[in-house]
Amino acid sequence: MDFLELAKARYSCRKFTAQPVEDEKLEKILEAANVAPTGGNLQPIKLWVVRSPENLRKVYDSTPYNFGASTVIVVGGDDSTVRKTGAKDDFLSLAAVNGSIVATHIILAAKDLGLDSTWVGLVDRVQLKKFFPEMAAYTIVCIIQIGYASPEQKGQPHKWHTARKGVDALTEWL
Ligand SMILES: Cc1cc2nc3c(=O)[nH]c(=O)nc-3n(C[C@H](O)[C@H](O)[C@H](O)COP(=O)(O)O)c2cc1C
Repeated sequence: MDFLELAKARYSCRKFTAQPVEDEKLEKILEAANVAPTGGNLQPIKLWVVRSPENLRKVYDSTPYNFGASTVIVVGGDDSTVRKTGAKDDFLSLAAVNGSIVATHIILAAKDLGLDSTWVGLVDRVQLKKFFPEMAAYTIVCIIQIGYASPEQKGQPHKWHTARKGVDALTEWL
């Protein structure tokens, strides 16, 4: 698959089989996360890989979206990192921006390895941080569910996957 084919093949999978993600694949996914660009190369990111049944239960108790993935990566951005944008007194938090770039590397790398994923943004972050105090100082950007897609309908692309504005609507050439 070339890059465009990979980008089009990736979709949000909302039902996974119980098949675990192999360690070697997870290591490659994490390496893809590690090489993501970050503002000022600050790398203000922390990834928590959740695989034990006990901790998965805590994650799934913090979101309405439990798609049954046996691996979840929680993406956190360090809240203390801000960057001056150029304008006086105009600072941009780097946590969500950089976390989103890393998360994008993760979901595309997963697809490249024959896995599927879903980026879940709707998370009760207060609840999650109660379960995992180590996340307290971070903006929780998303939780990414990763695994093997169920052949059932929910495991397959939703109609939203192909509902895009189109390049013309998306773009303005100046
Ligand atoms: C920032 C962000 C937050 C999202 N949050 C959720 C979510 O909480 N639950 C969910 O099922 N999907 C979530 N998604 C997946 C989107 O619904 C999905 O990417 C979109 O509908 C396009 O479909 P596709 O990913 O299959 O191409 C999120 C995606 C992004 C980028």
